[in-house]
Amino acid sequence: MKVTVVGAGNVGATCANVLAHKDFLTEVVLLDIKEGTAEGKALDTWQQAPIDYYSTKTIGVTNDYSKTAQSDVVVITSGLPRKPGMSRDDLISTNANIVRSVTENIIKHSPDTIIIVVSNPLDVMTYCSYLAAKKDSSKVFGMAGILDTARYRAFLADEIQCSPKDIQAILMGGHGDTMVPLPRYTTVSGIPVTELVAPDKLEAIIQRTKVGGGEIVNLLGTSAWYGPGAAAAQMVEAILKDEKRIFPVCAWLSGQYGLKDIYLGVPVVLGKNGIEKIIELQLNSEEKDLLNNSAKHVKEVMDVLDNMQSAAV
Ligand code: LAC
Repeated sequence: MKVTVVGAGNVGATCANVLAHKDFLTEVVLLDIKEGTAEGKALDTWQQAPIDYYSTKTIGVTNDYSKTAQSDVVVITSGLPRKPGMSRDDLISTNANIVRSVTENIIKHSPDTIIIVVSNPLDVMTYCSYLAAKKDSSKVFGMAGILDTARYRAFLADEIQCSPKDIQAILMGGHGDTMVPLPRYTTVSGIPVTELVAPDKLEAIIQRTKVGGGEIVNLLGTSAWYGPGAAAAQMVEAILKDEKRIFPVCAWLSGQYGLKDIYLGVPVVLGKNGIEKIIELQLNSEEKDLLNNSAKHVKEVMDVLDNMQSAAV
């Protein structure tokens, strides 16, 4: 099995490296427009193989899409990351052009591939890739929920003083400050989180989660990569091993949750066919309001993209 990761920046290179460590792929191709970057990072990962004991061949290429041919899954991480003071939405025009052209090039060489988008603003870049790919929406979706839920789970583990492995949670909505962590669907080894964390502490964790990406941007001057890269790799694994894992994923809605014609984070089943099912939770009215608010925000940014595209034709 073959996977391509487009963009050999921090997120893309981490994703390729994590995938290699999982040791179930024949080949990971890392592609970048900057001469030498993908080649160097792929070579470094290949040289790590005898130490960390995996056989996945990692190959780096500069803009040569012919080397990505017949990829089973492609992860798109290309585009500019955020700088302090920027929202993810500030990246839209630059990154939309990049994501569109990357998607077209990918589809030329791997028409049957599944595409996972990681570029920001995530929900809208996933929509952009979907429009360019002209594929069924079950094959084009975005990574955000696993990362956002992981942040929430990590903060909860700190608060409870337990292993993050034992926190199960779901989070919905867009990948931005309107995301919707769901305490009613959060458990610690089966124990409702509300039995272990006081309401004010839980609320503080929810607020910190919503701006969790920004917290790292402020610390580093650029956006995170270990969490995002590993989250995308986990999606690839679920798909290619046909694991039927349930994850929050940025998916195209066609009536679920009363929403349609929008990409938004919802729980799905991921398997060899991509998104095999969208799970509809019975949200209460407060949760529905939060989700609708998040959808409204994502839709506004999708409209910006639609208007940019109609201005261009
Ligand atoms: C983050 C970026 C990758 O949330 O969107 O860290």
